Amino acid sequence: MSFYQRLLVVIVVVALIFGVLMIFSFDIVKLDWISFMEIQPSYKPMEHPLPVGARSIPIEGAAYVAGQGAPSNPIATDEVSVERGRVLYSVTCIQCHGPKADGNGVVGGALMFPPANLTGDVVQNKPDGALFLTISNGIQGAGGQIHMPALNENLTVRDRWDVVNYLRTLKASAAPTPKP
Ligand code: HEC
Repeated sequence: MSFYQRLLVVIVVVALIFGVLMIFSFDIVKLDWISFMEIQPSYKPMEHPLPVGARSIPIEGAAYVAGQGAPSNPIATDEVSVERGRVLYSVTCIQCHGPKADGNGVVGGALMFPPANLTGDVVQNKPDGALFLTISNGIQGAGGQIHMPALNENLTVRDRWDVVNYLRTLKASAAPTPKP
């Protein structure tokens, strides 16, 4: 083999190796490279809300202890609570449930499951604790798909009761009951 023939072989071999490497770098063949940020269990906000750890004690009081059913409302429905609830509603709920809480929020229409009308009897006839748990845990469909996200990361326990107290002021069907 002449010098040039050998040079040609070397060039062809190098080009081949290069070409094969490029297949990986352009993701034609995708390799799952280990990177340390990736091999930790990380979730996007509100995705897979983690259960309360076993034997842990909620610092905001016994708001909900697994298996104990719905808690009862410890926050009195006064002006402060309702006003806090109104503000919190306009931050965390309004986009889906709408400014009138009738389920016609900006985002609501784009959802697969239409948000509930919070002023109607179906919701208003549920006890405070049930609404509290809905806000805390969200609503999951039978197949595990999320209808409404859990909002326990967005609202403290107190915040959630304030929202519940606010929701009570929206009851549509009720004739205004005079306060005793
Ligand atoms: C991402 C959109 C979204 C947000 C934000 C949201 N919801 Fe919902 N909510 C839904 C949907 C969708 C449903 C109906 C789910 C179904 O029918 O399965 C629902 C249902 C409900 C129900 C009815 C539960 C029942 O058992 O009848 C209540 C009460 C409720 N939401 C309260 C709230 C409150 C209070 C907030 C804010 C703290 C809130 N939601 C924020 C989408 C949302």
